[in-house]
Amino acid sequence: MKIVKTIDEIRNIIKEWRKEGYSVGLVPTMGYLHEGHGSLIEQSVKNNDKTVVSVFVNPTQFGPNEDLEKYPRDIERDSKLVERIGGDIIFNPEASEMYSSAGFTTIKVEGLSEKLCGITRPTHFAGVCQVVSKLFNIVTPDNAYFGLKDFQQYVIIKTMVDDLNFPVKINPVEIVREESGLAMSSRNVYLTYDERKSALSLSIALKTAKSLISNREYNSSKIISEMKQIINNYPYTKIDYIKIVNTTTLNDIDYIENEKYAVLLAVYVGKTRLIDNYVCE
Ligand code: PAJ
Repeated sequence: MKIVKTIDEIRNIIKEWRKEGYSVGLVPTMGYLHEGHGSLIEQSVKNNDKTVVSVFVNPTQFGPNEDLEKYPRDIERDSKLVERIGGDIIFNPEASEMYSSAGFTTIKVEGLSEKLCGITRPTHFAGVCQVVSKLFNIVTPDNAYFGLKDFQQYVIIKTMVDDLNFPVKINPVEIVREESGLAMSSRNVYLTYDERKSALSLSIALKTAKSLISNREYNSSKIISEMKQIINNYPYTKIDYIKIVNTTTLNDIDYIENEKYAVLLAVYVGKTRLIDNYVCE
């Protein structure tokens, strides 16, 4: 397993791999890897000859008052995880390497980027699309892996790839949770002991939604209001949004009938903003 810092070097390695006829999988991450990332890497290793894991805390997807500076980093620990799972390369460029040109170009997935997380993070998805398309052009993967934990991100990337004909297959990967039900996230390290207990309210509310729906409660506002009650009962929580949406358009669904739907939520626990979801397709 090798750590590569420059675009030239990774391009040369990929060129050599292509000469051998190897297929290439890419797992884009911001590092501080956990078993959620691990499951994406596992899928890639299983289905491609070679796997590149990018570890890059992308400045363009952070808003001015967000956690860019304090975002957790530990490349040595990340290397061990990638090595253990069988990844071949960590691509870990500096920001100056990734953004050495003028940086005028962004990609806006109109209609999908402004809603849900885009309301509190208005520039976030433009930054995500910018860095992911750069990574696609640098690594030229056959397959790329994205977690359903960031469901809106997955839908936006998938739409961008379809709209712009990127020659890569986007593979979704299920959410990996701790035994407690808490969805794994690099940002969970910000939580204090007591906040961690409150963070469980997200998965508990989603479980409640799932069981309400399986008991034929199809009215979104009733489901959402039960979820709100659950979360508000825990200290340190502040709901950003809870929505039930169509899985392609991300438009609100008032009444769940035969549509494919996702129950999505974002909640502040203390100062940490957590997201989680339940998707039914
Ligand atoms: P990051 O938050 O590091 O996540 C990298 C990938 O891991 C994403 O596709 C995310 O959905 C997936 N992931 C995170 N936690 C997961 C979990 N508990 N279960 C399954 N998958 C999980 O998402 C980003 O980085 C960035 O926006 C990026 C796409 C790398 C662009 O900078």
